Amino acid sequence: MQAHTPVLLEEVLAGLNLKPAGRYCDATFGRGGHTAAILAQLAPEGRVIAIDRDPEAIRAAAVQFGAEPRLTVIRGSFERLDECVREAGLNGELDGVLLDLGVSSPQLDAAGRGFSFMQDGPLDMRMDNESGPTAAQWLARATEREITDTLFALGEERFARRIARAIVQTRSERALTRTADLAALVAGAVPTREPGKHPATRTFQALRMRVNDELEALAAALPQALGLLAAGGRLCVISFHSLEDRAVKRFIQRESQGDPVYAGLPDVPPHARPRLRRIGRAIRASDAEVARNPRARSAVLRVAERLAA
Ligand SMILES: C[S@@+](CC[C@H](N)C(=O)[O-])C[C@H]1O[C@@H](n2cnc3c(N)ncnc32)[C@H](O)[C@@H]1O
Repeated sequence: MQAHTPVLLEEVLAGLNLKPAGRYCDATFGRGGHTAAILAQLAPEGRVIAIDRDPEAIRAAAVQFGAEPRLTVIRGSFERLDECVREAGLNGELDGVLLDLGVSSPQLDAAGRGFSFMQDGPLDMRMDNESGPTAAQWLARATEREITDTLFALGEERFARRIARAIVQTRSERALTRTADLAALVAGAVPTREPGKHPATRTFQALRMRVNDELEALAAALPQALGLLAAGGRLCVISFHSLEDRAVKRFIQRESQGDPVYAGLPDVPPHARPRLRRIGRAIRASDAEVARNPRARSAVLRVAERLAA
């Protein structure tokens, strides 16, 4: 089975402040690196709900954990976190929720999934590769403006306009269906090179985030995670993209402040009180971890604790 090295593992375990009989949700199972480490610290009464939208991750979970009685695996998107947790037979009161965003190594490394510009494959990029439009279908239908905006906003690609123009021009001649074709097209459209970076890096990242609605799913998941946590429960989010990290940081900031309308007043009604407490600052991987696992380079972990109502 293909492996995924869990990022910031010790930091996540400390951030979750694990209790042996606690109930945890790993909303991004991947290949179960974090789930396995959480289970290893739980007593027989502890529970983990693991979620992933990728059917291959769900199949890997069955092989890896078999009939582990403390683990319930749910196939679904954390965009509907409440529903997934309910499907697992729980109604909130969780002691911790983990979101380790982005793609797993098996997804990135399998040419057939279409995430990588390093290997030729179908231009797919769907984490749930059994539903929704592929990257090829999205590129075939999007307007030049939509492509430009996506590359600019999600890839911070300064040559977004040129690349979008090249895509629209090319697709009028032939369908863009292969990763290698798109990577070569982008390389030809971009006039300068960033050192150490393939010119298609930003385009592929932006397309992946668009095809999987990643920012939208995160924005939907954060308030649900907060609602599912018991007092003292921990929220841990690992981001790999500045826009994701900004969304997480702002969410924690907002929920740590309470409603400003009541600032300075003696009686603050429960709905207007802060619901989270930030735990420490943003945590990044150590040099030693990055040396072992270069994919940890851009990871940022933020931790917050649910306050009593
Ligand atoms: C970085 S990997 C997680 C790796 C995992 N922590 C491990 O140690 O093996 C991210 C995983 O989250 C999944 N994922 C991303 N967005 C998701 C969403 N909205 N709902 C459910 N799963 C999602 C991906 O399919 C991928 O398997």
